Amino acid sequence: MTGTLTEPQPAATAIAVPMAEPMSESVRLNALEDMHLVLLNPGHDHLITAHLARVHATGRRSKVLDVGIGAGTWTILLARHHPFADVVGIDISWAEFQPPVKLPHGNVDFYTVDVTQPLPWPDNTFDLIHVKSMVMDIPHYPQLVQRLSGVLRPAGLLILVESELSYVSALGPPSDSVVVWSEALRRALAAKNTDADIPRHLDSAIADTGMFWPQFYFQEIGCPVGAYMTGSKALQKAGAIQATVIRASLWRIVSSRLDDGPERQKLEATLDACANELCSPTSRYLQRLFAVYAYKRSSWSDHLLQ
Ligand SMILES: C[S@@+](CC[C@H](N)C(=O)[O-])C[C@H]1O[C@@H](n2cnc3c(N)ncnc32)[C@H](O)[C@@H]1O
Repeated sequence: MTGTLTEPQPAATAIAVPMAEPMSESVRLNALEDMHLVLLNPGHDHLITAHLARVHATGRRSKVLDVGIGAGTWTILLARHHPFADVVGIDISWAEFQPPVKLPHGNVDFYTVDVTQPLPWPDNTFDLIHVKSMVMDIPHYPQLVQRLSGVLRPAGLLILVESELSYVSALGPPSDSVVVWSEALRRALAAKNTDADIPRHLDSAIADTGMFWPQFYFQEIGCPVGAYMTGSKALQKAGAIQATVIRASLWRIVSSRLDDGPERQKLEATLDACANELCSPTSRYLQRLFAVYAYKRSSWSDHLLQ
């Protein structure tokens, strides 16, 4: 009903701005899984398939460990595509995620394991170990790499996939809100013994164990925030996915990884400005993604040959 000048007018109400739908953690992780596979393939799948085929050709089943499974997407994908692999998925709290489907080969198990503690398997157990997006969750990441190297079999393959926590703009220095965000995040993580620079030093974390062949396969990919990239369907698709999860990803950092305190308040205050700036189609931000594929030395004599 419209009012007239002579009738009392209803109180003015604020224009309703639609709130962003809150995104569940499993939806966010599934979207990121798609994004990572778009960016890392075909090399990623090829290395895994070739490695497992070499093990299966010897006549035995392979053993695969997925560390910090999140929604379990990668774990299940691997078990589906490789019926001769026995896959173990571990997480500190995997039970909150329900595996979405029954697996045809019955070759996957999930366990609750805290990977900051000694692992419940003997040395030389797994043929393939996969770790993705754990930097923010794990203090002393190199210690995790060291611990996993022990349970990897000789000639086994270790895969580490991590994104940098900061964003760079193709057009020059990042805006103030992005700088404030990155610096506050770096300080907050340092206070928890978490090194924000680990993603770009994954190769050193592996080399420092002294247990791997020095010839790593290393991928470094700039993942756009938004579908602004032309000339590459993969980068366009990855950028579009990244834009849909960016706000939820920033929120996850603030809400679940930081204690109450001045850094948290600072990050909360910056979050919206930062998310808007990162997603703006004209600002052309990207986040670096790193993946390392390293093979464990098979004997002490290999070591001497280097
Ligand atoms: C960002 S998610 C990544 C999940 C998955 N790797 C992916 O890429 O989608 C990090 C996962 O690590 C798990 N996590 C955190 N600390 C852990 C710990 N100490 N031991 C085992 N898992 C841990 C969390 O519960 C969460 O599921």
